[in-house]
Amino acid sequence: MAPIPDPMLRVDLAGMPLATPVILAAGTAGVLDEMSEQLDLARVGALVTKSITPEPREGNAAWRVWPTTVGMLNAIGLANPGIDAFMRDHAPRAAGLPCRVIGSIAGFSVEDYTRVASAFDTCEGIVGAELNVSCPNVHGGVEFGSEPGLLGELVARVRAELKNTKLLVKLPPVTTPAPHSIVDLARAAIDAGADALCLCNTTPAMAIDVRTRQPVLGNTTGGLSGAAVHAQAVKIVYDVYRLVARDAGVPIVGIGGVTGWTDAAELILAGATAVEVGTALFADPRAPIKIARGLGKWAQTQGVSNISELTGRVEA
Ligand SMILES: Cc1cc2nc3c(=O)[nH]c(=O)nc-3n(C[C@H](O)[C@H](O)[C@H](O)COP(=O)(O)O)c2cc1C
Repeated sequence: MAPIPDPMLRVDLAGMPLATPVILAAGTAGVLDEMSEQLDLARVGALVTKSITPEPREGNAAWRVWPTTVGMLNAIGLANPGIDAFMRDHAPRAAGLPCRVIGSIAGFSVEDYTRVASAFDTCEGIVGAELNVSCPNVHGGVEFGSEPGLLGELVARVRAELKNTKLLVKLPPVTTPAPHSIVDLARAAIDAGADALCLCNTTPAMAIDVRTRQPVLGNTTGGLSGAAVHAQAVKIVYDVYRLVARDAGVPIVGIGGVTGWTDAAELILAGATAVEVGTALFADPRAPIKIARGLGKWAQTQGVSNISELTGRVEA
Protein backbone atom coordinates (compact mmCIF):
# COMPACT_ATOMS: atom_id res chain seq x y z
CA MET A 1 0.00 0.00 0.00
CA ALA A 2 1.41 3.41 -0.94
CA PRO A 3 2.11 5.67 2.04
CA ILE A 4 -0.40 8.44 2.62
CA PRO A 5 1.41 11.38 4.18
CA ASP A 6 -0.78 12.50 7.07
CA PRO A 7 -0.09 16.11 8.10
CA MET A 8 -1.59 15.28 11.50
CA LEU A 9 1.30 12.91 12.23
CA ARG A 10 4.29 14.88 10.92
CA VAL A 11 6.55 15.95 13.78
CA ASP A 12 9.79 17.83 14.09
CA LEU A 13 12.18 16.02 16.41
CA ALA A 14 14.96 18.47 17.25
CA GLY A 15 15.13 19.63 13.64
CA MET A 16 14.65 16.14 12.18
CA PRO A 17 11.34 16.09 10.28
CA LEU A 18 9.55 12.74 10.76
CA ALA A 19 6.56 11.50 8.73
CA THR A 20 5.11 9.97 11.91
CA PRO A 21 6.17 10.07 15.56
CA VAL A 22 6.70 6.27 15.59
CA ILE A 23 10.32 5.06 15.49
CA LEU A 24 11.81 1.54 15.45
CA ALA A 25 13.89 1.11 18.64
CA ALA A 26 17.60 0.29 18.68
CA GLY A 27 18.51 -3.37 18.63
CA THR A 28 15.01 -4.64 17.90
CA ALA A 29 14.88 -4.00 14.14
CA GLY A 30 18.13 -5.43 12.80
CA VAL A 31 21.37 -3.61 12.05
CA LEU A 32 19.78 -1.12 9.62
CA ASP A 33 16.87 -1.86 7.30
CA GLU A 34 16.15 -5.59 7.71
CA MET A 35 12.60 -4.73 8.81
CA SER A 36 11.81 -3.51 5.30
CA GLU A 37 10.97 -7.12 4.47
CA GLN A 38 8.22 -7.01 7.09
CA LEU A 39 6.90 -3.48 6.98
CA ASP A 40 6.92 -0.47 4.66
CA LEU A 41 9.54 1.84 6.17
CA ALA A 42 7.85 4.84 4.51
CA ARG A 43 5.15 4.42 7.14
CA VAL A 44 7.43 4.91 10.15
CA GLY A 45 9.09 8.13 11.23
CA ALA A 46 12.58 6.73 11.66
CA LEU A 47 14.54 3.63 12.49
CA VAL A 48 17.37 3.40 14.99
CA THR A 49 20.24 1.11 14.05
CA LYS A 50 21.60 -1.63 16.24
CA SER A 51 24.06 -0.05 18.71
CA ILE A 52 27.41 0.08 16.92
CA THR A 53 30.78 -0.14 18.69
CA PRO A 54 34.22 0.58 17.19
CA GLU A 55 35.13 -3.13 16.99
CA PRO A 56 32.86 -6.04 16.01
CA ARG A 57 31.26 -7.87 18.94
CA GLU A 58 29.80 -11.36 19.10
CA GLY A 59 27.76 -10.61 22.21
CA ASN A 60 26.85 -12.78 25.17
CA ALA A 61 26.36 -16.54 25.42
CA ALA A 62 22.82 -17.99 25.23
CA TRP A 63 20.23 -17.42 26.44
CA ARG A 64 20.22 -13.85 25.20
CA VAL A 65 16.47 -13.26 25.22
CA TRP A 66 13.84 -14.73 27.48
CA PRO A 67 10.10 -14.07 27.62
CA THR A 68 8.51 -12.94 30.88
CA THR A 69 4.79 -12.95 31.63
CA VAL A 70 4.34 -9.37 30.44
CA GLY A 71 7.57 -8.49 28.66
CA MET A 72 10.97 -9.70 27.62
CA LEU A 73 14.42 -10.05 29.17
CA ASN A 74 17.47 -9.55 27.00
CA ALA A 75 21.21 -9.64 27.43
CA ILE A 76 22.45 -9.48 23.87
CA GLY A 77 25.79 -8.00 24.87
CA LEU A 78 25.92 -5.45 22.05
CA ALA A 79 26.48 -7.97 19.24
CA ASN A 80 27.20 -5.84 16.15
CA PRO A 81 29.50 -5.78 13.10
CA GLY A 82 31.65 -2.84 14.31
CA ILE A 83 31.84 0.59 12.75
CA ASP A 84 34.11 -0.26 9.80
CA ALA A 85 31.88 -3.08 8.54
CA PHE A 86 28.77 -0.99 9.28
CA MET A 87 30.08 1.89 7.16
CA ARG A 88 31.12 -0.46 4.34
CA ASP A 89 28.18 -2.90 4.24
CA HIS A 90 25.18 -1.02 5.65
CA ALA A 91 25.61 2.76 5.77
CA PRO A 92 25.60 3.23 1.95
CA ARG A 93 21.91 2.15 1.93
CA ALA A 94 20.84 4.68 4.57
CA ALA A 95 20.36 7.66 2.26
CA GLY A 96 18.02 5.67 0.01
CA LEU A 97 15.65 4.55 2.76
CA PRO A 98 12.16 6.10 2.91
CA CYS A 99 12.43 6.95 6.64
CA ARG A 100 14.98 8.84 8.71
CA VAL A 101 17.90 6.86 10.08
CA ILE A 102 19.31 7.39 13.56
CA GLY A 103 22.60 5.67 14.32
CA SER A 104 22.95 4.14 17.78
CA ILE A 105 26.36 4.26 19.44
CA ALA A 106 27.68 2.15 22.31
CA GLY A 107 31.14 1.97 23.80
CA PHE A 108 33.34 1.51 26.80
CA SER A 109 35.32 4.78 26.67
CA VAL A 110 34.73 8.33 25.46
CA GLU A 111 37.02 7.54 22.51
CA ASP A 112 34.83 4.58 21.52
CA TYR A 113 31.81 6.87 21.29
CA THR A 114 33.60 9.69 19.46
CA ARG A 115 35.03 7.27 16.90
CA VAL A 116 31.62 5.90 15.96
CA ALA A 117 30.01 9.35 16.13
CA SER A 118 32.50 10.88 13.72
CA ALA A 119 31.92 8.03 11.25
CA PHE A 120 28.13 8.44 11.47
CA ASP A 121 28.58 12.18 10.91
CA THR A 122 30.09 11.49 7.48
CA CYS A 123 27.16 9.28 6.43
CA GLU A 124 24.66 11.14 4.25
CA GLY A 125 21.61 9.14 5.35
CA ILE A 126 22.15 9.28 9.11
CA VAL A 127 20.42 12.33 10.57
CA GLY A 128 20.80 11.55 14.27
CA ALA A 129 23.20 9.80 16.64
CA GLU A 130 21.60 8.10 19.67
CA LEU A 131 23.99 7.49 22.55
CA ASN A 132 23.31 4.22 24.31
CA VAL A 133 24.79 5.07 27.69
CA SER A 134 22.49 2.72 29.48
CA CYS A 135 23.03 -0.83 28.33
CA PRO A 136 22.88 -2.72 31.63
CA ASN A 137 24.42 -5.87 30.18
CA VAL A 138 28.06 -5.15 29.59
CA HIS A 139 30.53 -4.12 32.24
CA GLY A 140 31.42 -0.43 31.84
CA GLY A 141 28.51 0.47 29.58
CA VAL A 142 26.33 1.49 32.45
CA GLU A 143 28.79 3.91 33.99
CA PHE A 144 28.24 6.83 31.65
CA GLY A 145 24.53 6.65 32.30
CA SER A 146 24.82 6.44 36.05
CA GLU A 147 26.79 9.56 36.92
CA PRO A 148 25.88 13.06 35.68
CA GLY A 149 29.50 14.30 35.57
CA LEU A 150 30.70 11.41 33.40
CA LEU A 151 27.62 11.66 31.24
CA GLY A 152 28.08 15.39 30.70
CA GLU A 153 31.70 14.89 29.66
CA LEU A 154 30.73 12.14 27.21
CA VAL A 155 27.89 14.16 25.67
CA ALA A 156 30.07 17.25 25.28
CA ARG A 157 32.84 15.25 23.58
CA VAL A 158 30.45 13.56 21.16
CA ARG A 159 28.67 16.84 20.50
CA ALA A 160 32.00 18.30 19.34
CA GLU A 161 32.32 15.52 16.73
CA LEU A 162 28.93 16.09 15.14
CA LYS A 163 28.71 18.72 12.41
CA ASN A 164 25.74 17.37 10.42
CA THR A 165 24.01 15.07 12.88
CA LYS A 166 21.62 15.65 15.79
CA LEU A 167 22.55 14.16 19.16
CA LEU A 168 20.04 12.05 21.07
CA VAL A 169 20.96 10.75 24.52
CA LYS A 170 19.24 7.54 25.63
CA LEU A 171 19.17 7.18 29.39
CA PRO A 172 18.65 4.19 31.67
CA PRO A 173 15.48 4.17 33.78
CA VAL A 174 17.44 3.65 36.98
CA THR A 175 21.01 4.41 37.98
CA THR A 176 22.95 1.52 39.45
CA PRO A 177 24.53 1.88 41.90
CA ALA A 178 24.93 5.68 41.97
CA PRO A 179 22.14 7.56 43.75
CA HIS A 180 21.35 10.01 40.97
CA SER A 181 17.88 10.57 39.66
CA ILE A 182 16.99 10.40 36.01
CA VAL A 183 16.23 14.12 36.17
CA ASP A 184 19.85 14.80 37.24
CA LEU A 185 21.08 12.75 34.28
CA ALA A 186 18.69 14.45 31.88
CA ARG A 187 19.87 17.87 33.05
CA ALA A 188 23.51 16.86 32.61
CA ALA A 189 22.84 15.63 29.08
CA ILE A 190 20.96 18.81 28.14
CA ASP A 191 23.60 21.10 29.65
CA ALA A 192 26.27 19.25 27.65
CA GLY A 193 24.47 19.77 24.35
CA ALA A 194 21.95 16.97 23.80
CA ASP A 195 19.41 17.83 21.10
CA ALA A 196 16.92 15.22 22.36
CA LEU A 197 16.49 12.69 25.17
CA CYS A 198 15.38 9.09 24.71
CA LEU A 199 13.60 7.70 27.78
CA CYS A 200 14.41 4.90 28.43
CA ASN A 201 16.54 1.88 27.85
CA THR A 202 15.70 -1.45 29.52
CA THR A 203 15.39 -1.95 33.28
CA PRO A 204 17.98 -4.18 35.00
CA ALA A 205 16.34 -7.53 35.69
CA MET A 206 16.95 -11.26 36.10
CA ALA A 207 15.25 -14.66 35.78
CA ILE A 208 16.22 -17.93 37.49
CA ASP A 209 15.56 -21.52 36.43
CA VAL A 210 14.35 -22.98 39.70
CA ARG A 211 15.09 -26.58 38.66
CA THR A 212 18.78 -25.98 37.93
CA ARG A 213 18.95 -22.96 40.28
CA GLN A 214 20.91 -21.17 37.57
CA PRO A 215 20.24 -17.78 36.00
CA VAL A 216 18.36 -18.18 32.73
CA LEU A 217 20.39 -15.58 30.83
CA GLY A 218 23.94 -16.43 29.80
CA ASN A 219 24.96 -13.04 31.18
CA THR A 220 23.20 -13.76 34.54
CA THR A 221 21.35 -10.43 34.43
CA GLY A 222 19.77 -8.49 31.60
CA GLY A 223 17.29 -5.79 30.73
CA LEU A 224 13.51 -5.91 31.00
CA SER A 225 11.39 -4.39 28.23
CA GLY A 226 7.85 -4.55 26.90
CA ALA A 227 4.52 -4.08 28.65
CA ALA A 228 6.11 -4.61 32.07
CA VAL A 229 7.99 -1.30 31.86
CA HIS A 230 5.39 0.89 30.15
CA ALA A 231 3.86 2.63 33.18
CA GLN A 232 7.36 3.31 34.51
CA ALA A 233 8.32 4.94 31.21
CA VAL A 234 5.24 7.18 31.35
CA LYS A 235 6.24 8.43 34.81
CA ILE A 236 9.84 9.06 33.77
CA VAL A 237 8.81 11.02 30.66
CA TYR A 238 6.29 12.97 32.78
CA ASP A 239 8.94 13.89 35.37
CA VAL A 240 11.75 14.76 32.95
CA TYR A 241 9.42 16.82 30.73
CA ARG A 242 8.06 18.94 33.58
CA LEU A 243 11.24 19.28 35.60
CA VAL A 244 13.83 19.95 32.91
CA ALA A 245 13.12 19.23 29.22
CA ARG A 246 10.10 21.49 28.59
CA ASP A 247 11.80 24.66 29.76
CA ALA A 248 15.04 23.70 28.01
CA GLY A 249 13.11 23.17 24.76
CA VAL A 250 14.64 19.70 24.36
CA PRO A 251 12.26 17.08 22.92
CA ILE A 252 11.80 13.63 24.44
CA VAL A 253 11.45 10.29 22.67
CA GLY A 254 9.32 8.06 24.92
CA ILE A 255 10.36 4.38 24.99
CA GLY A 256 9.01 1.45 26.93
CA GLY A 257 6.27 -1.07 26.32
CA VAL A 258 4.58 0.66 23.41
CA THR A 259 2.45 -2.12 21.96
CA GLY A 260 -0.64 -0.20 20.87
CA TRP A 261 -1.55 3.38 20.01
CA THR A 262 -2.86 4.17 23.50
CA ASP A 263 0.60 3.41 24.95
CA ALA A 264 2.12 5.85 22.47
CA ALA A 265 -0.57 8.44 23.20
CA GLU A 266 0.12 8.19 26.94
CA LEU A 267 3.82 8.89 26.40
CA ILE A 268 2.97 11.87 24.17
CA LEU A 269 0.59 13.31 26.78
CA ALA A 270 3.30 12.80 29.42
CA GLY A 271 5.75 14.89 27.36
CA ALA A 272 7.12 12.87 24.44
CA THR A 273 7.39 14.27 20.91
CA ALA A 274 7.95 10.82 19.40
CA VAL A 275 8.00 7.22 20.62
CA GLU A 276 10.13 4.16 19.92
CA VAL A 277 8.71 0.66 19.54
CA GLY A 278 10.93 -2.33 20.37
CA THR A 279 9.62 -5.51 21.98
CA ALA A 280 6.25 -5.22 20.23
CA LEU A 281 8.03 -5.79 16.89
CA PHE A 282 8.80 -9.39 17.88
CA ALA A 283 5.09 -10.23 18.17
CA ASP A 284 3.90 -8.04 15.30
CA PRO A 285 6.42 -6.44 12.92
CA ARG A 286 3.65 -4.21 11.55
CA ALA A 287 2.79 -2.82 14.98
CA PRO A 288 4.37 0.60 14.23
CA ILE A 289 2.01 1.14 11.29
CA LYS A 290 -1.03 0.24 13.38
CA ILE A 291 0.20 2.49 16.20
CA ALA A 292 0.68 5.45 13.81
CA ARG A 293 -2.77 4.93 12.32
CA GLY A 294 -4.34 4.82 15.79
CA LEU A 295 -2.48 7.96 16.84
CA GLY A 296 -3.80 9.82 13.79
CA LYS A 297 -7.40 8.90 14.57
CA TRP A 298 -6.96 9.79 18.25
CA ALA A 299 -5.42 13.18 17.44
CA GLN A 300 -8.42 14.00 15.25
CA THR A 301 -10.73 13.45 18.23
CA GLN A 302 -8.64 15.78 20.36
CA GLY A 303 -9.30 18.92 18.32
CA VAL A 304 -5.72 19.53 17.17
CA SER A 305 -4.29 20.03 13.69
CA ASN A 306 -0.99 18.27 14.49
CA ILE A 307 -0.20 15.58 17.04
CA SER A 308 2.69 17.57 18.49
CA GLU A 309 0.11 19.92 20.04
CA LEU A 310 -0.68 17.06 22.44
CA THR A 311 2.87 16.74 23.78
CA GLY A 312 2.80 17.21 27.56
CA ARG A 313 -0.93 17.92 27.58
CA VAL A 314 -1.88 15.47 30.34
CA GLU A 315 -4.27 17.28 32.64
CA ALA A 316 -2.61 16.41 35.92
C1 LIG B 1 16.38 -7.82 21.97
C2 LIG B 1 16.65 -6.39 22.32
C3 LIG B 1 17.84 -5.78 21.90
C4 LIG B 1 18.10 -4.44 22.23
N1 LIG B 1 19.27 -3.86 21.79
C5 LIG B 1 19.50 -2.55 22.06
C6 LIG B 1 20.66 -1.90 21.55
O1 LIG B 1 21.49 -2.46 20.82
N2 LIG B 1 20.84 -0.58 21.87
C7 LIG B 1 19.95 0.12 22.65
O2 LIG B 1 20.15 1.32 22.88
N3 LIG B 1 18.83 -0.47 23.12
C8 LIG B 1 18.59 -1.78 22.84
N4 LIG B 1 17.44 -2.36 23.30
C9 LIG B 1 16.48 -1.57 24.09
C10 LIG B 1 15.35 -1.03 23.20
O3 LIG B 1 15.83 -0.17 22.19
C11 LIG B 1 14.31 -0.27 24.05
O4 LIG B 1 14.94 0.84 24.68
C12 LIG B 1 13.70 -1.15 25.14
O5 LIG B 1 13.49 -2.47 24.68
C13 LIG B 1 12.37 -0.59 25.66
O6 LIG B 1 11.41 -0.48 24.62
P1 LIG B 1 10.30 -1.63 24.38
O7 LIG B 1 9.63 -1.88 25.69
O8 LIG B 1 9.41 -1.05 23.32
O9 LIG B 1 11.05 -2.83 23.91
C14 LIG B 1 17.16 -3.70 23.00
C15 LIG B 1 15.96 -4.32 23.41
C16 LIG B 1 15.70 -5.64 23.10
C17 LIG B 1 14.40 -6.26 23.54
